[in-house]
Amino acid sequence: MERKQIAVIPGDGIGKEVVQEGIKVMEKVASLAGNLKFSFTYFPWGCEYYTKHGKMMADDALDTLRSFDAIYLGAVGYPGVPDHISLRDLLLVIRQEFDQYVNLRPIKLLQGAKSTIKNATSETVDMIFIRENTEGEYYDAGDRLFHGKPEEIVLQTGVFSRKGTERIIRYAFEVAKREKKLLTSISKANALNYSMVFWDEIFEEISKEYPEVETTSYLVDAAALYLVTDPSQFEVVVTSNLFGDILTDLGATLAGGMGLAAGANINPEKKYPSMFEPVHGSAPDIAGKRIANPLAAIWSVSQMFDHFGYEQLGKYVLDAIEALLVEGKVLPHDLGGSSSTNEVGDRVVTILEEMMQG
Ligand code: NAD
Ligand code: IPM
Ligand code: MN
Repeated sequence: MERKQIAVIPGDGIGKEVVQEGIKVMEKVASLAGNLKFSFTYFPWGCEYYTKHGKMMADDALDTLRSFDAIYLGAVGYPGVPDHISLRDLLLVIRQEFDQYVNLRPIKLLQGAKSTIKNATSETVDMIFIRENTEGEYYDAGDRLFHGKPEEIVLQTGVFSRKGTERIIRYAFEVAKREKKLLTSISKANALNYSMVFWDEIFEEISKEYPEVETTSYLVDAAALYLVTDPSQFEVVVTSNLFGDILTDLGATLAGGMGLAAGANINPEKKYPSMFEPVHGSAPDIAGKRIANPLAAIWSVSQMFDHFGYEQLGKYVLDAIEALLVEGKVLPHDLGGSSSTNEVGDRVVTILEEMMQG
């Protein structure tokens, strides 16, 4: 029997609601599989914690989290706490300190899901975004001078290290090689004449190590256009932190909406725990109404099984989400249904029972 220790950070808003459903699914899959057991430890960190303690997490949070096998996160951010504090001091600090430099975001239109793009199918929208997740435009470097004065200057410095750029691009080449897929790099060297020229050079250099991998390269503005007009050409995509953030929300709408967009923050060396979370935020507009779609959070559980080497269990979870969509009876509000967060999670669990016992 293998035991996995999971640190759970439900966070804020709908984060708390969707995480409950993901955990239900993890427990059910583990008990049906029989050879795996999860222990969950909950941490109350987030904006509510901030209003009581003046900080987003406990002082020793990183030391505490380090010993877990994985982190399962809901969402962070709530009106009343500035976003640049709540996100930087929790989500971004975990990604950076635990060297979770690969952000894996599948953009895949499941059967039964509805894309915002006309004529999209499961064949035409099926790609994986590999987003650099620890540096680039999100590096914590900058300054603010002459505060409030007419000569005020603000600097936000992008930082692209050779190590950081090489390793994310190499990771993407490995995925494309393994899956025999086209690799697309997305950058912006025509305007960002330091960072993105460097990115393109590294992409070019590393491509020489992988002659068997077919590649293409787009400017980010054109890539945004092609993702909508011709998504079928994208298979494996590698891009920087900010571009990946923006394009994966666009990708979410290609694949059925924010309620179906999952992400994994991976430390490939497994020196630190990896973190699994939906791409969406805390959605204050619908928080507390029990109508949030938990499928993105559940999909990230599928990614967690994959990461632990239980790919068959990960596939069951994804297949169960797809079966629920195809069946179309228990659907959350954002997908045109009227079921609650909890009812959707329960239905996934029942489908898993049928699937895994049958
Ligand atoms: P959001 O993703 O929270 O919401 C965007 C829109 O999508 C809203 O209309 C919301 O109702 C809808 N939506 C999102 N997830 C949904 C779900 N599961 N089911 C149904 N509808 C869903 O983005 P936002 O409004 O820009 O941000 C809200 C807060 O969340 C901010 O504080 C922001 O900084 C934070 N945020 C956190 C994360 C994270 O923790 N990973 C990610 C993005 C935004
Ligand atoms: C995401 C989110 C975060 C990001 C924010 C909340 C800092 O938008 O995970 O996509 O930009 O990485
Ligand atoms: Mn985002």
